[in-house]
Amino acid sequence: MKYADWLNTRGLEYRNDVLYFAGMNTLDIVEKYGTPIYVINEQMVRERYKKLKKFVNSEYKKNQIHFAVKANSTLSFLRVLNSEGASFDCTSQGEIFTCFKAGISSEKIIYTGNMFTEDDFEFAVKNDVLVNLDSLSQLKRLADIYEKLGKEKLTISFRINPEFGAGEHIHTITAGKDVKFGILEGQAIEAYRKAKEFGFENFGIHQHIGSGIINAYDYEKPTEKYLNIVKTIAKTLEIKFEFIDFGGGLGIPYQPKEKPLDLNVYSKIVIKPFLELLKSEDIGEPEFKIEPGRYLSAESSIILTQINTIKNNGYKLFAGVDAGFNTLLRPILYDSYHHIIPCNKKGKEKSLTYDVVGPICESGDILGKNRELPELNEKEFLAILDAGAYGFTMSSTYNSRPRTAEILIKDGHIHKIREAEAYDDLLKKQIIPDHLK
Ligand SMILES: Cc1ncc(COP(=O)(O)O)c(C=O)c1O
Repeated sequence: MKYADWLNTRGLEYRNDVLYFAGMNTLDIVEKYGTPIYVINEQMVRERYKKLKKFVNSEYKKNQIHFAVKANSTLSFLRVLNSEGASFDCTSQGEIFTCFKAGISSEKIIYTGNMFTEDDFEFAVKNDVLVNLDSLSQLKRLADIYEKLGKEKLTISFRINPEFGAGEHIHTITAGKDVKFGILEGQAIEAYRKAKEFGFENFGIHQHIGSGIINAYDYEKPTEKYLNIVKTIAKTLEIKFEFIDFGGGLGIPYQPKEKPLDLNVYSKIVIKPFLELLKSEDIGEPEFKIEPGRYLSAESSIILTQINTIKNNGYKLFAGVDAGFNTLLRPILYDSYHHIIPCNKKGKEKSLTYDVVGPICESGDILGKNRELPELNEKEFLAILDAGAYGFTMSSTYNSRPRTAEILIKDGHIHKIREAEAYDDLLKKQIIPDHLK
């Protein structure tokens, strides 16, 4: 794919050397709204969902796509996906609360927590949210809470750890014997047998093997093992599944030369074997579920940031910007690549190699290492791409830097959807005891 086409797939183009995003001039945006700022392209969110939904529908109609809220929990973002018909995957009470505030109803939510507390279970049961358990030990505690609250038991599901994982970084691989998530094959039958004993009558099953998977063949071994486990449970316990959830993990090409995930291969590795199992075994008519976060959200957003310092230390060139790992954590956390481009490349013929660095007082505050960029000057602007997944949700106030604003572009109009935090917000919850006043 040509570079300009790659930019185009994320709603970006240069018009007379000025960067436009979702049809809007990025220089106008920074002038009006300041930096650093998260900018979301609403149309891109809708397109990503529609494309995936259409694809899954073409393979098997009875499906639900649950957006993984941890990737992007901004209310307006969730509202866009909700209006497209998406369902949601939550990992905490806070995410469920946020979904409710976004107008999402409880039956669209699956609660895949880990290390659940009693309070988590009470919250879920009171709010009629389906719980996906992560440990055998949690089953009785959840059953007790249903009894205590006198609520009818909803579908119960367990997260299976198929022992084969994949992902962009060791910390995003979520399957394997020494990984904290899910229950291993050896406990799977016991889990569902006990669930039956505790009076659960409807069953789902779940796996999520990791995040940032760009090669669909990485799903092969885990899926094979998972579907075998599904089959064994169904046969041994005569269980019919309401749903089989294959988790998220679908990656995106953060680098212009990377090939996107091939959905046809994904189907061959994941969906087709699922359909074969439906044909060959009596496991009910389960819904096919997936939980993509990144795939639906990453490319929809950019961060606009201003260069404040060009430093040549005699050895290396640094472009110092006003976004740091407080704004985008992924580069330092996962060694992740985010493409960085200038908002204005007018008259720039020369290219130089820069480390693009933030203002955080840590040497690891590097947003892009050894980046070939047109010669940069102080006060100019850069765009950091593919920031819509695990971007704002992982941002922090480290170094007492308030979180940024967010804006949403829709049909040539800009909507402010989050105010930048103020210094007062940093201090709001602190209490000074009398003896220190
Ligand atoms: C249980 C679960 N489902 C879905 C996801 C979404 O992953 P991704 O954004 O890679 O699709 C995650 C991410 O960590 C997860 O833990």
